Amino acid sequence: MRPRRLRTTPAMRRLVREVEVRPSQLVLPAFVADEPGDISSMPGVRRHTVDEIARVAEEVAGAGLGGIMLFGVPRDDEKDDRGTQAWAEDGILQRGLRACRAAVGDDTVIMADTCLDEFTSHGHCGFLTDDGRVDNDATLPAYASMALAQARAGAHVVAPSGMMDGQVEAIRAALDGDGFQDTAILAYAAKYASSFYGPFREAVTSTLQGDRRAYQQDPANRREGLREAELDLAEGADMVMVKPAGYYLDVLADVAQISDVPVAAYQVSGEYAMIEAAAANGWIDRERAIEESVTAIVRAGADIVLTYWGLELAGWLR
Ligand code: PBG
Repeated sequence: MRPRRLRTTPAMRRLVREVEVRPSQLVLPAFVADEPGDISSMPGVRRHTVDEIARVAEEVAGAGLGGIMLFGVPRDDEKDDRGTQAWAEDGILQRGLRACRAAVGDDTVIMADTCLDEFTSHGHCGFLTDDGRVDNDATLPAYASMALAQARAGAHVVAPSGMMDGQVEAIRAALDGDGFQDTAILAYAAKYASSFYGPFREAVTSTLQGDRRAYQQDPANRREGLREAELDLAEGADMVMVKPAGYYLDVLADVAQISDVPVAAYQVSGEYAMIEAAAANGWIDRERAIEESVTAIVRAGADIVLTYWGLELAGWLR
């Protein structure tokens, strides 16, 4: 056996390639804010105004991407301890969703991050108890309200990312109870307490003190990622996600093996920033690194990849 025979020419390599990244499986995470601006730790990524985000959604649809995932960034003086702007009809995320839906209709899939942390003054993903812990069950109704507000604003998919136990079930019941049977749930099922979310915290002007280790998963736990995915499937998740992606390919492969619904992986802000920073220094070939990093995620079993390079990558892949 001489495996090198199949590597002799570009045509031969193309013939035997096992996976290929498709634009239609890419989702662009994007930020909508009242106060737009660049994000220094994520060169090339911006906080967009409501008008701008509608143009981004049009680009996403035009490039044949699978979808866009919206995050809302309220002004600091709009944050409160319960994060009420998260479900306000005129909250920044709802306004962004409406603008995107009006611009592209059903031409691409409009997704909304369903989590309180961008909206709370303390930066946690849920309500706090008097002694400062995140109160799981008291938070669930807020997630249900938030998902409903997002569905009403035009989201095709809501994506609970707060790692509250029971969040998928609570959201499904609220959506069904209000006539949104067709709104899908993409559950951030296996979400780890990761240092690689660092640049995202700048992007959403996070006020978090401390960390999320009491609700996001311990990076050391592989089996637990499977368990989280199984629970979300049992609660009715239409799709499940593993996050971060590149450092959690084992978890991703495990989940892909047991899941009977599509599996997404989120290439997070830190994964983006590291490649951009190394490339800016001339230390790695930027385009090859981007393509390789996303290909590895697909090879490990992701059906859908959320990546900040979505638009650019789709352009090269055509
Ligand atoms: C929570 C949320 C986070 C990210 C996506 N949804 C931040 C966190 O959990 O601290 C991180 C995404 C990224 O780093 O690109 N709303």
